Amino acid sequence: MNKALSDTPTPFRLNGREAAPMLFPGQRLSEVLREGLGQRDVKIGCDAGDCGACTVLIEGEPVCACLTPAHQVAGREVETVQGLHANDPVAAKLAQSFLDHGAAQCGICTPGMMVSAVALLRDVPEPTEAQVQDALGGVLCRCTGYRKIIDAVMGAPSVAIATAGKVGDAVQHLDGIEKVSATVKYGDDIAPVGCLEILVIRSPHARAVFEIGDLEGFAQAAGLDAVLTAEDVKGQNNFGVIPGFEDQPVFAERETRFRGEAVAALIGARDVLRAIDPEMVPITWTELPALQDMDAAEDQKADQLHHGRENNVMCTGFVTCGDPNAALGRAHVIVEGRFESGFVEHAYIEPEAGFAEVVNGRVEVHACTQAPVMDLEGLERVLGLDRSDIRVVPTATGGGFGSKLDMSVQPYLALAALKTGKRVRLCYTRTESMQCSTKRHPSDITLRIGADKTGNLCGFDFCGRFDTGAYASWGPTVANRVPVHASGPYRVADYIAQAKGVHTNNPPSGAFRGFGVPQAAIAQECLFDDLAEKLGMDALEFRVLNALDNGVPTVCGQVFDQGVGIKACLEALRFAWTEERAGVEAFNAQNDAVKRGVGIASGWYGCGNTSLPNPSAIKCGIRADGTVVLHQGAMDIGQGANTVITQIFATALGAEVGQITLVGADTDVTPDAGKTSASRQTFVSGNAARLSGEALRAMILERLNVAEDAALEFSAGEIQATDAGGARVLDLSALEADSDGYVLRAEESYDPPTKPLDKNGQGHPYAQFGYAAHLAVVEVDTALGTVTPVKFIAAHDVGQAINPMLVEGQVHGGIAQGLGMALMEEYIPGRTENLHDYLIPTFGDIPPIETIIIEEADAHGPYGAKGLGEHVLIPTAPAILNAIKHATGVRLFKGPAIPSVVHATLKKSVT
Ligand code: FES
Ligand code: FES
Repeated sequence: MNKALSDTPTPFRLNGREAAPMLFPGQRLSEVLREGLGQRDVKIGCDAGDCGACTVLIEGEPVCACLTPAHQVAGREVETVQGLHANDPVAAKLAQSFLDHGAAQCGICTPGMMVSAVALLRDVPEPTEAQVQDALGGVLCRCTGYRKIIDAVMGAPSVAIATAGKVGDAVQHLDGIEKVSATVKYGDDIAPVGCLEILVIRSPHARAVFEIGDLEGFAQAAGLDAVLTAEDVKGQNNFGVIPGFEDQPVFAERETRFRGEAVAALIGARDVLRAIDPEMVPITWTELPALQDMDAAEDQKADQLHHGRENNVMCTGFVTCGDPNAALGRAHVIVEGRFESGFVEHAYIEPEAGFAEVVNGRVEVHACTQAPVMDLEGLERVLGLDRSDIRVVPTATGGGFGSKLDMSVQPYLALAALKTGKRVRLCYTRTESMQCSTKRHPSDITLRIGADKTGNLCGFDFCGRFDTGAYASWGPTVANRVPVHASGPYRVADYIAQAKGVHTNNPPSGAFRGFGVPQAAIAQECLFDDLAEKLGMDALEFRVLNALDNGVPTVCGQVFDQGVGIKACLEALRFAWTEERAGVEAFNAQNDAVKRGVGIASGWYGCGNTSLPNPSAIKCGIRADGTVVLHQGAMDIGQGANTVITQIFATALGAEVGQITLVGADTDVTPDAGKTSASRQTFVSGNAARLSGEALRAMILERLNVAEDAALEFSAGEIQATDAGGARVLDLSALEADSDGYVLRAEESYDPPTKPLDKNGQGHPYAQFGYAAHLAVVEVDTALGTVTPVKFIAAHDVGQAINPMLVEGQVHGGIAQGLGMALMEEYIPGRTENLHDYLIPTFGDIPPIETIIIEEADAHGPYGAKGLGEHVLIPTAPAILNAIKHATGVRLFKGPAIPSVVHATLKKSVT
C-alpha cells in the first residue's frame, strides 16, 4: 500500500468548495480529482500532456491536470468544467454557444475545450480567431474539425434554431446539455472508486512464442486478486466481427502475432497493479522473425499466420463488367499508377474503457462501443454463456470512427468480473489503445484507366492489396467493398476491380470511415486528373461528363432510376472551381517558392452492409402520464444519431422532439438497432424510427377516429387530436398499461432491399448511395515541402438534411480526418504509439470549410435522407493531392504527403 505524502490532508479550493484529499507520492492532479474527489468531468485522453482533455484552471490559468503534481495545488483554487458551468456566467454563455453551433459532437474533448475557452474569454471577451486558436491549440478534437468550436468561442451567430425539431430543422443536439455540462459518463466514468482494476499483459514483439511461468505464485506474492489467461476462457478463445472470420484470441496461446497482443491479465487493486512492472511477470518470450509488410507476407517461403489462408491471403473481392481489356486496347489515352498508403490510427480522444459486475448471477458490461448487440454476441461466444446471462449497457462513446465496432475491453471485463465475483474496471492507456486497436488498412493499389477522344471513360483495371494485419477484423468487408466502389461515382462500362486482404504481423486493420474506399478514391481521383490533363480537358468537366446519373448502371449493374446526386455535387463546385483557379494563378504569378493549387475529387458510398441483411429495430411507447418514450439503440458516437433519429420519429408521430424521452442502447430494454457503421443509422435506423412513429400515430388516430392529417397535442395523461371535424381527446389513464408501463406501444424494423452479388460482382449491393465532391485549395512551400490547406468547399448529396447543422458538423469532421490522412498521419507500429509522435490535425491545421448541401431525395431514405458518415472523408485526400499537383506539377504516389516526402519528390522532379 502506498504511503501518503504527509500525515495530514492537503487543502485547496475546488470549484469554490474546500477540498482536502490525502496525497500520495507521484500522484497527478488528474487522478486526485477523478478518483479521490469524484470529479470525473476531468477527462483523460493520453495522461501525457498531448491531448488537453484534462485541462483545468489553477488560479485561473489552464493547465493539463495529468502533468500537474497534485501537491502543487495546495492552498490554491482549482476549477473544472462542472464548477465553471455551475458558477461562472462566462462558462454558462459559452455552453449555450457550444449548443447553438453543434460544437460538441462526442463531447469527450468538450471539458478541455470549454475550460481553455473560459480562461481566454475572462481576459478577452471578444477574441479573434487567431486568439482562439492560440488559447485552445493544446486541446485535440477528433470529431468536429474545430471550426464550430472556433465559432462557438467567438460567439458567431447561432446556427441552431429553436423549433419543434421536425425533419429539416437545425435543432441542437438533444444530448448536448450533458456534454457541455460534462455530466455525461464515458467508459471510464462509470466504475465506483476503489473497485478492482485490470492490467493486460501484452506481447512486446511483433511475433513471438512464449511460455507462462508460475503466474499464480506471482499473483500471490504481488497481492493480486486473480489472473486470467487463455485457460480462463470457458467459451471459444477467439472473437471477430465477420461470421467465419472469428480468428483473434482473447489471450494468445503459445504464439503472438502482433506487438501488443494480449497474453494474460492481472486483476487487483489500483495501487497493487501500479506497482507491477509488466517485465517482472513470469513470461518467457522468444522473438520470431515477423512479416512486416505485404511483400514479405506473400512470399512463397513466408510462414503462414492462419491455417487455410494460403500465402497469407485472408480473402479477395472482385467486380467486373463489360470487357476492360478490349476497352483499354481501343482507348485514345491511358493513364496508370501505383499508389501506396500506410496505417492510419483512429485516435479518438477516449481510450477504450469500461466496467463490469455480476448482478443476480448475470454479467453486466458497461463500456464504450459502436455495436452493443455485436458485443453481446461476442461475449456469448467467449464466455460460453447463454445471451440471457449477459447484459451490455453502453456508456457514452468518446469517438469511434469504426474501431469501436470491435470488442476491446469487453471480454477482459466480463471474464474478470465472473472470476472474482467483484466489480472491475479497465481503461486502456493511450499507448495500449494505439498498439492493439484496429487501424485503417495500408494499401498498395495499381490502376489503369483509359478514355476515348471525346473524354468518355474507356476501360478501368484496378488491383488493390490491403494489409489486414494479424487478424481479420473488418478486412473481409474492405476486400468486398472496395471493388464495388473503386470506379467512383462514374459511368464505367468496361471494368475490373480486384482486392485482397493480406495478413502480416502488424496490428489488425479494421473499420475506419470508408472501409478501404478512401484509399481506392485516392488512386482513381488522382488518375482522373491525369487523364483529363492528357486529354486537354478541364478536370471538373471531365468528371461531369463521366458522372453517374439516374438510369445509368453502376459497375455492379445496379440501375437507380432516382436519387443519383453526383452531378449536382460537381456542378455546385463549378463557380468556385473557376474562381479559385483564377485566384491561384494570380497568386502564383507573384510568388516563386510558395505556390498554390486547386484540386477537386468526388466520392460515393453505399449505405449499410454490402448485399447482406442489415436490419434495425426501434421501439416506442406512451405511458399513462403522457410521456412519449423512444427506445433508441443506434449508438450515438458523436455523429448525432440521438438527435436525428428522434427528429425522424417525432415527425412521423406528429410530436415535438422536446416531448420525446429517450431510452438509450441497453441489450435488456432496447431492441437491436444494429451497429453504428457504414453510414447506416440515419438511413436504416431512421427508417425504423419513421415506421415506429407512423405505427404509433396510426393507433392514436384509429382510437380517436380522426383524419390522417390530424394535429396531435401531447399533454399530461392525454392526447388531443384535431382535424376538420374538431378536437377529440384520448384519456391515457383509462388504458391498461403493459409490463413496460406503456398504454400504447409500437416496434418496427427496417432492412434495406439489396440483392446478392454474383461471381462477377453483379447485383444490388446497396439500396442507396450518398455522393460528394470536394474542392481544396492548398499552399505548398516548395523549399520546405510543407503543404498548408487554405480552404475547402464540400458539396454533399444527403438526400434530405434531417438536421443541417449536424450535416455540416459531419462534413467538417470528415474533412479534418481526410486532411490528416493526406498530410500527416502515419502510424508505425512500435514508433508512433502516442499522440506526441502520431500527429493528428489541430486547430491551426483546419482552414475555413464551406459546406454545400445537395438534397437529391432517395426513395428508400426516411423522408428522402441518405447516409453521410463515411462520405465526408472520401474525396478529401484526393482533392488535396490533386491541389498539390496543380500547385507544383508533381504527382505524389505515396502518402501521407509529409514535408520530407513532398520535398524529396519535388527535388527528384527537377533532377
Ligand atoms: S490527458 Fe492530460 S493532456 Fe491528455
Ligand atoms: S467532440 Fe471533440 S473529440 Fe469528439
